[in-house]
Amino acid sequence: MTDRTELLKEYVAEIQTKERVCAAHSFDHTLRVLENIKQMLKYSDVDPEQALASALLHDIIRPPYREKGGKEHAELSAKEARKVLPKFGFDQESTNAITQAIREHSATKDVNRGELSQLLFEADKLDTFGKTGLERWMCLGKGDGLSQQEILEGILKIQLKLLVFNTFKNKYAKEELKKRKKMLFDHIKKEIGEGKFEHIVNNFDSNYDPYAHLIK
Ligand SMILES: [Fe+2]
Ligand SMILES: [Fe+2]
Repeated sequence: MTDRTELLKEYVAEIQTKERVCAAHSFDHTLRVLENIKQMLKYSDVDPEQALASALLHDIIRPPYREKGGKEHAELSAKEARKVLPKFGFDQESTNAITQAIREHSATKDVNRGELSQLLFEADKLDTFGKTGLERWMCLGKGDGLSQQEILEGILKIQLKLLVFNTFKNKYAKEELKKRKKMLFDHIKKEIGEGKFEHIVNNFDSNYDPYAHLIK
């Protein structure tokens, strides 16, 4: 990482460590997204510094879902990134590219993403699958007062929706997704029972609103 990216990391660490406790959006999440991006860069032509900066700042503003701005955190984080990046020496062109990727990283946004946006999107969503993904969803769901069963069914629907509307493109992300999806879905199947699992998968409605389920 370049010097300014290291400095940016320290800056984000201080903000996120102070304010976040939930595994879903703690600094650890940011670090995992950063790590995903590093791996993905091996199979991408995207400017590495822009990619790393977008990972670091993508959730810089992250109000809880229930609170004002909870659903617009991508837009809010993009606005904040626009203020922060020039202070770390990023020029106008890089700032524009990074803020656009941050604005478009939310899963519910049905947009045609450019290369950098797509990279960040996949790195971020990868963290919602597998073991860490499970911990993240548990943390979010418990915060919303949902039961274990409701959370697991919600996760399954959210991830089905994500898979219906989005195809991962990066080689590393695709392979990781396959492994993590299997782990996550196997776990949910075991917990909620095969019958219920199959029922949800077979009757899945792509209009399902993940936020409506999280914010009961
Ligand atoms: Fe986010
Ligand atoms: Fe994120």
